[in-house]
Amino acid sequence: MYVTSLSSKDTLRKLDGDFKQIECYFERFPDGEGYVRFDEKIKNIKEILIVQSLYYPQDEHIMQLFFMIDALKDLNIKINLIIPYMAYARQDKRFKDWESVSGISLAKMIDKFDIESKYTVDIHDMKVTKAMKGENLSAMPLIADYLTNLNLKEPVIISPDKGSVERAKIVADQMDAEFDHLEKTRISGDIVEIRPKEINTKGRDVAIVDDIISTGGTMAKACEVLKRKGTLKVLSGATHLLMISNAEERLIKAGIDGIFGTDSIPSKFSEITIAKIVEEVF
Ligand code: R5P
Repeated sequence: MYVTSLSSKDTLRKLDGDFKQIECYFERFPDGEGYVRFDEKIKNIKEILIVQSLYYPQDEHIMQLFFMIDALKDLNIKINLIIPYMAYARQDKRFKDWESVSGISLAKMIDKFDIESKYTVDIHDMKVTKAMKGENLSAMPLIADYLTNLNLKEPVIISPDKGSVERAKIVADQMDAEFDHLEKTRISGDIVEIRPKEINTKGRDVAIVDDIISTGGTMAKACEVLKRKGTLKVLSGATHLLMISNAEERLIKAGIDGIFGTDSIPSKFSEITIAKIVEEVF
């Protein structure tokens, strides 16, 4: 399969030899407008996979995606698309009157293009993937592999809220470990309250697993609660490591013993590659 990307080139480099990369270039005009051009090898290609993650700067990565898709359509090339991190996905409903539901809007725009197959990875809410008539893939089996290799002590896998219970369960089942979730209430954009549940983690290691670590507020609170209960190591991980502003310091201050995640968003903690998921699908 031929494959191309602008924002996920690191992931592309980890794909096996069955994937042949077509270089795509991005530049900016002096007025700030973007410009996209493929390598001329594109001219002989009938079908391609775009892997384009829509992390920060989201709007630039979105426009790159649109320009890539449209240029490939002009060349009559069949397109498959994997969006490792879907921008705006947390705005998946109207929380207040008169606001835009940007996650669904973006998904609908993507759906307007004639694309053979479309995939998201650990989407925050399936409504968004459905709005683009796509399918969702999970990095949780890769996270389970990663945690298994750490030889944790009587590991407990914990979801920091009800939203990630299914994810934590996939990881726990594969590791043959116990799992549970905490009760989270979001007070504001970066402040959350976490109430402990009756989980016995005393003297055991815990991995908290979520779809996204953004400001780190959720994980920091969860860690404090678990450490108060006598938990040994607390590791914190997610598919998508946004790690906004001082998220890392916040987690360290809360006592987190390790941070892990995938390269859906490049970071120094992105040790798990989603290239393996791409290889399984194509
Ligand atoms: C929200 O429900 C998500 O699943 C994550 O829990 C959330 O995005 C994490 O955000 P933060 O790191 O800012 O607490």
